[in-house]
Amino acid sequence: MQLRIVITCLLMAACSNGSDDLREWTPADHAHPPETEIDPNRVPQKDAPDLSVGELLWMRNCARCHGADGRGGREAAISFATAEWQGSVDDATVARTIAAGKPPTMPAFADLLTPEQIQELVKQVRKFGGRPE
Ligand code: HEC
Repeated sequence: MQLRIVITCLLMAACSNGSDDLREWTPADHAHPPETEIDPNRVPQKDAPDLSVGELLWMRNCARCHGADGRGGREAAISFATAEWQGSVDDATVARTIAAGKPPTMPAFADLLTPEQIQELVKQVRKFGGRPE
């Protein structure tokens, strides 16, 4: 009899200790962590320390069609590396093409990239032609 009381007391003590950590569940406990906006201008460069913003944007958005070196050969046929092509368009036209796309293949990037990012890509396209930044 004596022993049962002692054990009961011990159990109660253990339980009340544990319940100090318990609090009421709130919907916030189930919420997903907030979606973070990824700003490519601030992507950690740990894995690719030598990439400029323009190169990074190029590799993400354009290289799959225009090739990593801008010489085409994938979905896009033209090469940005020739003096002929570089001389055939001005910067504003390149920016407009990026924003509006080239139907039917090239998607419009106006809703995906900021005007600043499009300008970085114009510079990147010019770099393929050998023009220094
Ligand atoms: C799904 C494939 C695809 C993607 C992605 C793509 N392009 Fe294009 N792009 C094309 C095609 C196809 C053309 C038409 C010319 C050709 O066939 O080479 C073109 C044309 C262009 C032109 C105009 C060339 C001219 O003189 O008419 C520019 C500039 C250009 N792309 C830049 C970009 C940039 C910068 C990106 C990334 C933001 C990009 N493109 C992403 C397929 C693509």
